[in-house]
Amino acid sequence: MQGLLDRKLIVVTGKGGVGKTTIAGAVGLAAASRGARTLIVDLTGASARLRGIFASQTDPSPRIAPADADVPVRLAESLWSASIDPDKALLEWMQSLGGRVPARLLASKSSFQYFAAAAPGGKELVSMVKVCELAGLTGAGRFEVVVLDAPATGHALAMLAAPSTFASIAKVGPIAAAAQNIQAILQDPALTGYLAVAQASEMSVSETLELQHELSEQLGVDLAGVVVNATMHRRFTGEELERIASLRGQEQVSPRSRLAAAAAAAAHAAHARTRFQHNQVARLRRHGLSVVQVPFVFQSDLDLPALERIAERLGQTL
Ligand SMILES: Nc1ncnc2c1ncn2[C@@H]1O[C@H](COP(=O)(O)OP(=O)(O)OP(=O)(O)O)[C@@H](O)[C@H]1O
Ligand SMILES: [Mg+2]
Repeated sequence: MQGLLDRKLIVVTGKGGVGKTTIAGAVGLAAASRGARTLIVDLTGASARLRGIFASQTDPSPRIAPADADVPVRLAESLWSASIDPDKALLEWMQSLGGRVPARLLASKSSFQYFAAAAPGGKELVSMVKVCELAGLTGAGRFEVVVLDAPATGHALAMLAAPSTFASIAKVGPIAAAAQNIQAILQDPALTGYLAVAQASEMSVSETLELQHELSEQLGVDLAGVVVNATMHRRFTGEELERIASLRGQEQVSPRSRLAAAAAAAAHAAHARTRFQHNQVARLRRHGLSVVQVPFVFQSDLDLPALERIAERLGQTL
């Protein structure tokens, strides 16, 4: 996984809700702490959450994302965030084609929807064009590293495959040129790195293995690594586990031992869970994936200090 922070574009994806935005935020912080001008960008409006985490440090009332969320907002030293709206990106792109698309057609919502539906993957392609522009991979971007907080696995794969789909359909013209350009960037391991976020559950690990397979099939690239998020620590030694086992099943003896038995049952359940998680991490490693674990944060809100601790941990590995 070493060297991931040296890439211009870092794509973070994984199953819904596993912590993609949190880990993208921490990866961004880790890159910025090395002095690289870094942008965390998403396509779903997730920047509002990150802005809330950073704003809460200085301002007790979390800021609401500005209407123009695609304008990068500074989060910290060397760190910015932005949200790209795929509909808006497609409209801007069509307008940039100038005379090729009549203005009155663009102004009509229904024609726009018609076009968007007629060219599946168009919005995804144009969004990727915008991400690459921000990273300075095409045009004059303002950032040295762009961390893409990508949608969940299936949608992310569709988005990453859009340039190659368009490149194979359109051979000449502005769309073909953009598609070929973005495809080359996404397939260049010196420029683009792919980081999966998973949790140590059966479904999440299976989805990560599927992601690895599809990235290789569709783009010919590999995952740089997997962040297994929200894992539990192994708390007990072998000797302690034996003592826990001896306390279980004493419910009948006395109220005091009933309490001890309940505590022992809870401790046993916690241990069984960590063992299960350990096995899921081993499944990833057996497939040759490099894994870094991020512990579950026992706080009602994952705040900036917690995000900084995750960033520090990732910074040592990436
Ligand atoms: N290591 C962790 N420990 C505790 N809570 C966490 C951890 N990582 C993420 N969370 C919490 O889990 C929730 C989901 O995290 P996050 O929004 O990062 O997931 P996501 O994968 O981006 O979700 P979505 O698929 O909806 O975009 C948030 O409330 C976040 O604070
Ligand atoms: Mg998210």
